[in-house]
Amino acid sequence: MARQQWSSRSTFVMAAVGSAVGLGNAWRFPGIAYQNGGGAFLIPYFIALFTAGIPLLALELSIGKKFQSGAPGAFAQLNKKFEWFGWWGVGTAFCIAAYYSVVVAWVIDYVALSFKVPWMDKAAAEVFTQDVLQVSSGMFDLGGFSPVVLLGLVFAWLSIWYCIRHGVASVGKVVKYTVILPIILLMFLILRAVTLPGALEGLSYYLVPDWSKLLDINVWAAAYGQIFFSLSILFSIMVAYGSYLGKDAEVTKDAMIIGLADAGISFLSGFAAFGTLGYLAQISGTPIAEMKHTGIMLAFVTYPEALGQMPGGRFGVILFSLIFFIMLFTLAIDSAFSIIEAIITAFVDKFGWNKERTTFWFCVVGFCASLIFATRAGLYWLDIVDHFVNDFNLIAIGLVECIALGWIFGAKKLREYLNSNTTFKYGVWWDVAIKYICPVIFLFISVTYLITNLKNPYDGYPVAHLITGGWAVVALTVVFGIIMSFIPTKDQSKSVENEKVTV
Ligand code: PHE
Repeated sequence: MARQQWSSRSTFVMAAVGSAVGLGNAWRFPGIAYQNGGGAFLIPYFIALFTAGIPLLALELSIGKKFQSGAPGAFAQLNKKFEWFGWWGVGTAFCIAAYYSVVVAWVIDYVALSFKVPWMDKAAAEVFTQDVLQVSSGMFDLGGFSPVVLLGLVFAWLSIWYCIRHGVASVGKVVKYTVILPIILLMFLILRAVTLPGALEGLSYYLVPDWSKLLDINVWAAAYGQIFFSLSILFSIMVAYGSYLGKDAEVTKDAMIIGLADAGISFLSGFAAFGTLGYLAQISGTPIAEMKHTGIMLAFVTYPEALGQMPGGRFGVILFSLIFFIMLFTLAIDSAFSIIEAIITAFVDKFGWNKERTTFWFCVVGFCASLIFATRAGLYWLDIVDHFVNDFNLIAIGLVECIALGWIFGAKKLREYLNSNTTFKYGVWWDVAIKYICPVIFLFISVTYLITNLKNPYDGYPVAHLITGGWAVVALTVVFGIIMSFIPTKDQSKSVENEKVTV
């Protein structure tokens, strides 16, 4: 069967932007910027974008396109010894899919709750941890399911399956809405936020540059880490999306567009977040410095707290709650389904399975795996798995990928391919990014990460919890990668034969 292709260039760009622009833009970027020098953070951030984010994005899209295969298959065609880290990325993607879908489930719950707006009548923290998540005493105290989360999860997986059921054909139709709508809703939120009393105070927290931070190496590491996460690179997603491109696609241009769109939306989100926090600070008397600016708490506790006090009475609160949570849903859903689509692509390319059937069964398996995060201990599991699998695997895979592709295979050959069909060519700077800048950054971040985590158990969790939910899961993804690379690939060469690779 011929490989599917994106119906148009704009569809592809939108799908890639949809994957990149997600919760990371709305709740991770503003907080990270604030902690790392406010306006001054934009300098390391944009440097990271151009020296690592866009080069790696272009690399992944172009090898997907070249080999018409998901990450493991594409790496294997470069060198059979590279296949395992493709699968390592797929294993990691699976873990992320399992918990990201649960966050989508919470968002769905909150869309429904927006009609009742309980955060108007009681503390938002109580709504989140007691009413919705019903959080238990610790990671091993599963305590059954939280019914609300379970229900949300069913809807989350149904939505994911619905969006990808016909592969890129259905993805292409969905992203028209899931990419444009959140941007429009974000504009509403920004307009509302910056016209609230106290907003300017909040914005100055976000934007006033603290230049001294530029001398702190951790600020640079944070900028690079945020770029990798935000662009959805290193987890096999962009290779899979690239594999549905035709020969004429000009990856060098598209990578720039996707990277800049993602960064722009992150920057804008900060106006909504900090304008609102400024307002909350003014009416509640809590200084901004003491509020949660990042992560889950910002979206499900701090923000609803502010929403509950929006001017305009109950109607105003309902309206802005709906706008906010529908925005989060549409932001998150296309990131969520891009991860599943990447996993499915890898398996279908390896075993030649029927794509639609595989999609259905992977959604079932994904749903089952995500159940652990829907228990009352789910929040602990999510926090730990996210910290280890996401933060650590992301960087470790990046390091291996850059060494293998940049050094063993050769960045120059890859760049020649990248530039082969376009007038917008990348220069030697691209090789420098892939061979030197990225690996050095990856090495620095992973060593710092290892030292910090071995010295101080993450977030004060008991070590047994961190081993179960963290290190063991990391180890499993590596073992999975290695095993998969030993399983023979079904020969599907008939359609690809004529295109035998000569990069
Ligand atoms: N890029 C997405 C975001 O910013 C997150 C994501 C990371 C999605 C990795 C898939 C894989 O929210």
